[in-house]
Amino acid sequence: MNSYNIKINGKEYTIDAVPNMPLLWVIRDIMDLTGTKYGCGSGFCGACTIHLDGKPTRSCITTISTVENKEILTIEGLTLNGFTALQQAWLEEEVPQCGYCQSGQIMSAQAFLNDNPSPSKEAIISHMAGNICRCGTYPRIVKAILKASK
Ligand code: FES
Repeated sequence: MNSYNIKINGKEYTIDAVPNMPLLWVIRDIMDLTGTKYGCGSGFCGACTIHLDGKPTRSCITTISTVENKEILTIEGLTLNGFTALQQAWLEEEVPQCGYCQSGQIMSAQAFLNDNPSPSKEAIISHMAGNICRCGTYPRIVKAILKASK
């Protein structure tokens, strides 16, 4: 067991964990931030997507020992200053069905929009291809991202 200094949603914490503990468990079980979901646990589905230094990152395959002194942002941190334009568009387009994958979808989409404020539809589809939605909300996801584009 080691001590790690981590920064989540703008606040710093020291936690005790084994070096290979997935960041997803730190977020959900230690920090009690349950908006980030466990899907496949293997880096394939995108349900666990958070931002690590602004980049969309799969927290299920990211270990605690690799994230010290990096900025971790979860879906809870995204709303600290109110809904983003993307989240507003997500609501207006009524994107979710069961909702399970949606925080990962939003975190992936937000990171993409932060780097590409005016993306093409094709670029959106290409970027979001790694985030799986079993309800098939893909058309509404694309619509919401286009709506939030500048
Ligand atoms: Fe992390 Fe599926 S739970 S990618």
